[in-house]
Amino acid sequence: MDPHPVTEHKPLPIAVLASGRGSNLEALMHACNTGQLPLEFRLVASDHAEAAALRRAESAAIPTVALDPSGYRTRRDFDLDLFARVAASGAELVVLAGFMRILDAEAIAPWTGRMINVHPSLLPRYRGLHTHRRALEAGDHEHGASVHFVSAELDGGPVIAQAHIDVRADDTETTLAARLLPFEHRLLPAVVKLIAEERLGLHDAVVTLDTIPLEQPLRLVDQALQRA
Ligand code: GRF
Repeated sequence: MDPHPVTEHKPLPIAVLASGRGSNLEALMHACNTGQLPLEFRLVASDHAEAAALRRAESAAIPTVALDPSGYRTRRDFDLDLFARVAASGAELVVLAGFMRILDAEAIAPWTGRMINVHPSLLPRYRGLHTHRRALEAGDHEHGASVHFVSAELDGGPVIAQAHIDVRADDTETTLAARLLPFEHRLLPAVVKLIAEERLGLHDAVVTLDTIPLEQPLRLVDQALQRA
């Protein structure tokens, strides 16, 4: 039984940034709709007007914004505008769910400890793109996904939690990605739940759970996060 029922917590206002498909956004929406996660979706923002994530949000009447990077002089100008809109939405947590941009350090500084990203590898292995292919090429027997606090370093912030899967002998980049995705969909809501319950913190780049530092990322076992 879950010793920390969510019902006592007020809904956490969040913004989700997504560049594409939006299946992790959908997982958060589902967890919220089924009463597993106390969230208030304030904004879904994208750098692609055609992103399916925006359509998913619109269908649930969540406010959306699409900003075209080519309309800005610099990357920093884009990021400052984006995060001004995020702040104006009243979000207290930003979730990067397939947001495929490197972020400007100054623009994201106010969100330190309040912005997380889901990444399809066992960080610190395979920051950046093509993580499944790189795991296969390296001959890894284990692969996985990570949720981490965002820092200015690409996929480099402190890791909160990971889901592990075995790599099979006949796996391809496609099958590995497809087998991992459902684990991402459990991992991300589980981490957001800890944040909504005010159990997770970041202090001097150290992740804490119930004020006790994590020595290793939490590990997803079935639906639950456990200390490693
Ligand atoms: C996921 O694999 C996530 O880990 C990575 O980008 C992908 C986004 O997928 N950062 P979706 O848009 O959530 O379906």
